Amino acid sequence: MNEIEYLIDIALKNKNNSYSPYSNFKVSCVVKTKSGAIYKGVNIENAAYSPSLCAERSALSSAISEGEREFLYIVITGDSHDTFPCGVCRQFIREFADDKTKIIIANSIDDYQIFTIEDLLPHSFSNKDLENR
Ligand code: THU
Repeated sequence: MNEIEYLIDIALKNKNNSYSPYSNFKVSCVVKTKSGAIYKGVNIENAAYSPSLCAERSALSSAISEGEREFLYIVITGDSHDTFPCGVCRQFIREFADDKTKIIIANSIDDYQIFTIEDLLPHSFSNKDLENR
């Protein structure tokens, strides 16, 4: 199993921890940092709906809360074929991804695609816009 397959395997195994009683749509995200640490996240829904949290922001928030800032891999797997991050999560990822961060959209360990944040969110607003302020 290569590094990407290993991360997808963790994401697939953790998908059942999704708390999604309203949509019945499970999403799982695994991130690997430049320091080598791995963090997991799932979507966490809420009876009031709008407080719901996506798996990507869940995983990244866990990593960021431990002091991590730089990411090598962001692996996403969900209940649809090719579950892509929502618009809010693309913007959230933008803050912490560089052009080397691999965003993996995975269906299984042998069926996945690799993107950069520039692929998923071209012409984005980012911390670069706020430089020298
Ligand atoms: N969801 C995610 O967690 N990540 C995505 O990339 C797409 C959508 C969640 C939000 C909600 O809990 C459920 O999937 C259905 O929209």
